[in-house]
Amino acid sequence: MRVILLGAPGTGKGTQAKLIAENYNIPKISTGDILREQIQKKNIIGKEIHNLLKNGELVSDEIVSNLIGNRIQEKDCINGFLLDGFPRTREQAKYISNLKIKIDYVLELIVPYELILKRICGRRVHTPSGRIYNINFNPPKEEGKDDLTQEKLSIREDDKIEIIKKRLENYEENAYLLNQYYLKEKNLKKLNYFKIDGKKDILNIQKKINMILKKR
Ligand code: AP5
Ligand code: MG
Repeated sequence: MRVILLGAPGTGKGTQAKLIAENYNIPKISTGDILREQIQKKNIIGKEIHNLLKNGELVSDEIVSNLIGNRIQEKDCINGFLLDGFPRTREQAKYISNLKIKIDYVLELIVPYELILKRICGRRVHTPSGRIYNINFNPPKEEGKDDLTQEKLSIREDDKIEIIKKRLENYEENAYLLNQYYLKEKNLKKLNYFKIDGKKDILNIQKKINMILKKR
């Protein structure tokens, strides 16, 4: 099964992506995580990516599309994959369509702006594993520590209020054209595209997603 998960920053893509990937035994491919891995390499491209991410800017369509294009050719994607945070522009959506790989579902999480800010401000992450917590909504068992390794949790470098606002602006700028693209595909009956109320709690949203995916 091949699934694309769309949504503004902080709508819960990473959280739900992990649950879907576990449930359906498919790899979760997050552009944000892949880009952060590139930063760790500390090479020239990694430095360029770092400058963009820390300022809340999008990485070029070409770089991101190539990274995803290569990743989905890997062996573990043979029975499907879940894309978290890609595509983010209409050009990226066209890139995926041009690969002629059938996407079974596109799910879009919708959350109001104020709640997004609250969620991102409370986010804590275990960087090595990508596990995501929230001090208000989804706290770790022990404050500040990862549940499995007990290692220290951290705050993402781009989770500063002024950068969050920039990320949301960038999202808004691209979302209209991206949504129009998928609505057209949906109307042409080429795609199963669902908008999901992302305000509910994590388990409720998971249930809703499972209902959609099990309909196939
Ligand atoms: P990326 O890492 O993808 O960041 P993002 O899109 O801004 O989304 P987030 O990861 O912030 O939020 P999320 O939706 O995953 O929410 P989460 O589950 O963590 O990308 C980072 C950067 O990389 C971008 O800014 C850009 O620069 C670049 N980039 C990435 N993809 C790109 C692309 N395709 N093209 C170009 N550039 C790209 O949840 C948030 C918090 O809420 C957590 O604390 C969580 O515990 C909590 N939470 C989740 N669900 C719920 C719930 N239902 N109720 C209560 N709390 C919840
Ligand atoms: Mg994420």
